[in-house]
Amino acid sequence: MALEKLRKEETLAMRKRLIGQSLRLFYSEDPVKIVRARGQYLFDESGKRYLDCISNVHHVGHCHPRITKAAAAQMELLNTNSRFLHDNIVLYADRLAATLPERLCVFYFVNSGSEANDLALRLSRQYTQHEDVIVIDHAYHGHLMSLIDISPYKFRKLAGQKEWVHVAPLPDTYRGIYQEGHPNPGQAYADTVKDLIEEVHSKGRKISAFFAESLPSVGGQIILPQGYSKKVAEYVRSAGGVFVADEVQTGFGRVGNHFWAFQLQGEDFCPDIVTMGKPMGNGHPLACVATTAEIARAFTDNGVEYFNTFGGNPVSCAIGMAVLDVIEEEDLRGNAIRVGAHLKDLLAKLQTRHEIIGDIRGVGLFVGLELVTDKEKKTPATERAAWVVKRLKEEHQICVSTDGPWESVVKFKPPMCFSMEDAELVVQCIDGILTDMKANDLKLEKEDI
Ligand SMILES: Cc1ncc(COP(=O)(O)O)c(C=O)c1O
Repeated sequence: MALEKLRKEETLAMRKRLIGQSLRLFYSEDPVKIVRARGQYLFDESGKRYLDCISNVHHVGHCHPRITKAAAAQMELLNTNSRFLHDNIVLYADRLAATLPERLCVFYFVNSGSEANDLALRLSRQYTQHEDVIVIDHAYHGHLMSLIDISPYKFRKLAGQKEWVHVAPLPDTYRGIYQEGHPNPGQAYADTVKDLIEEVHSKGRKISAFFAESLPSVGGQIILPQGYSKKVAEYVRSAGGVFVADEVQTGFGRVGNHFWAFQLQGEDFCPDIVTMGKPMGNGHPLACVATTAEIARAFTDNGVEYFNTFGGNPVSCAIGMAVLDVIEEEDLRGNAIRVGAHLKDLLAKLQTRHEIIGDIRGVGLFVGLELVTDKEKKTPATERAAWVVKRLKEEHQICVSTDGPWESVVKFKPPMCFSMEDAELVVQCIDGILTDMKANDLKLEKEDI
């Protein structure tokens, strides 16, 4: 069977004509046309293989046969909405409950991370009867209007900040207001939220929720300092609000040692609402909100039905359960621990030879490599980072991309089957590119903020 229906140029021309151009392409100067994929590899129309270091959605590997089999079998049997009684939705919720602290015991299934966060916003407002939201600077929580409003990454480029939205500093211990060397950055950053709450109260407003990714991704692959979330939760709850952990990027074992990234903040920390998405269906649109019985009750008590046409259908739940099976059976969390540590070690060795590497941070298979033009001033090396991305793709068929407020962090969030050899290959290629960059100095003097 021919996988390609159109020549690449035809696809590109049709895309330009028919698809909204705000939907951008990776490598817009020379886009890649992918026609099939398996594991951590993507294949273009000529059969060329690309190593995928960024598809965190395809969590257990692209087109995993267990997932496609589970989807096809259920699709052949039944797919209907969740108003009928069906085993899959309850069995899947039960499996998810087993991964979470006991108090997060009620589930709402939706179709995207945005839907999950929008529902989390509704749940927190209904429960608290307050309106305002605190978010972390540079955060992204989704593409719905309600979420653009709470995503500084987006609203700063648009109409701006709503009066009910309040932005706390990004707890970045590399270049933020409290850095490595500070005696207690977790407490210090949490206190910025406390100050913000006081400011909000002084305006006669009230906090409904604090939203944060358990590891800020768009913010630049940030690892929250120890103690931060627990303290923030304490402050937010005493103001009558709830703590929402956005695990859309970070959940399902990506951090290795834990199933959820919020657990990095200690066994005694538990959010009030957890939102999940991307990796949940391995590419199938499946997302979820988990919350407490009290919050769910308040939402039910408003008397308005919550109906979601596709959310929690038998096919989605069959896929979700198959994803959980593969994570366990293939020990993908163990793999994330081992390969993630190896990747970080190799990058750390590289750092001793390349001045441009300012910071390496990460847990499991969530790793960032921050490039700087001046190590002392930590000046973001935006164009050089873009150059690394471009050359990795053009010369080595390796897909990575950048994140962070200055797009200076090369990010690694590969499918969880990423191997030791994959890690070695990508680091070796980056070494070559950085060596070459240094030798030629790239004439990038004009660059960088
Ligand atoms: C942290 C986070 N939350 C929410 C979303 C929105 O998810 P979706 O694109 O599935 O609506 C994203 C998407 O990139 C995300 O990164």
